[in-house]
Amino acid sequence: MIDNTIRPTAGPQDRAAVVRTARSYWAAKVLLSAVELGLFKKLEKGAATDADILRDCGIHARAGHDFLDALVGLGFLEREGKSYRNAPSADRYLAAGPDSLEGLMRLLSAHFSVWSDLTGLLRDGGQRTNVGRDFKKLYEDPEALERFMAVMDGASAEIGPALASGYDWAARASFVDLGGARGNVAAAVARAHPHLRAGCADLPAVEPAFDRHMDRLGLTGKVRFHACDFFADPLPETDVMIIGHVLHDWDSEQCVRLLSRVHDALPPGGSVLIYDSMIDDARRDPDRLLLSLNMKLITPGGTGYTPAQARSWLTEAGFAKTAASRLTDSDTLVEGRKAA
Ligand SMILES: C[S@@+](CC[C@H](N)C(=O)[O-])C[C@H]1O[C@@H](n2cnc3c(N)ncnc32)[C@H](O)[C@@H]1O
Repeated sequence: MIDNTIRPTAGPQDRAAVVRTARSYWAAKVLLSAVELGLFKKLEKGAATDADILRDCGIHARAGHDFLDALVGLGFLEREGKSYRNAPSADRYLAAGPDSLEGLMRLLSAHFSVWSDLTGLLRDGGQRTNVGRDFKKLYEDPEALERFMAVMDGASAEIGPALASGYDWAARASFVDLGGARGNVAAAVARAHPHLRAGCADLPAVEPAFDRHMDRLGLTGKVRFHACDFFADPLPETDVMIIGHVLHDWDSEQCVRLLSRVHDALPPGGSVLIYDSMIDDARRDPDRLLLSLNMKLITPGGTGYTPAQARSWLTEAGFAKTAASRLTDSDTLVEGRKAA
């Protein structure tokens, strides 16, 4: 007899594991508060005494010593006597250097209270906040825009190189990354394939950040920015349209509408490349399912989706052929090809 039971991927949960999972938000909050208080940035200049840290970061002594020593126990700080310094991973990922995850940490901090009302989502299905996903409103604050762009760069850091090497670009003359933020993925593909006419399309407010980023990357003039609202404005002409980490923001009807607009804009034989941290078709991977719940908490219609779901949207939007493959450890690539 075939056993169709889907079993937990994490294995049997003993008592200690149940308790650990139930209070895992304690450790998350200690880390997020340390970022909020600027602790890792203070210590990137070198070790400091507990008294200096409490004073400079504005931490009350009643909780401060437990807080610092908990961070030592969690592996983010090192302690010698009364002196604390960043652990190497904190210096690299939590201070201000090029690999800093500070923007992501701040976004997760903003979502913390939203997750505390997960039960509300489960009761009525409604989003709990607009924080970070009402793009036009978010971009009214230039600093928030810049921080969001940095988070997007971090989330797609491995995508650009993987897409540049994992797709047959030789037969193509052009691409546009739709909803391409400040162009980080487009830059990696353009750099690896100089024969391509490269483009990045996003909301008009993103253009100054795009220009600054291309300047930093030494690619000014090599990638063209198309200012557009992808639901309302004409889409740029191109052989290949990339759409990554975008469809999870929208409901199924909006995804099909967007993909239909892309289909109409592409020439015969043109392709759309969708990448995302998709739920596995068997729906077993808890990380992807948690990400999907996150999208449901922060958007009215957004959700995680499987490669099978993406392929069915593509078919509904008119694409003749579809295929799915693994792009990176976290992301799946789904191609839709328009009939020639
Ligand atoms: C979650 S980010 C993904 C960015 C990028 N593709 C990546 O993988 O890092 C979604 C992007 O879609 C853009 N976007 C949202 N609504 C849009 C619209 N109506 N028209 C054009 N771009 C839009 C946002 O500005 C943002 O850059």
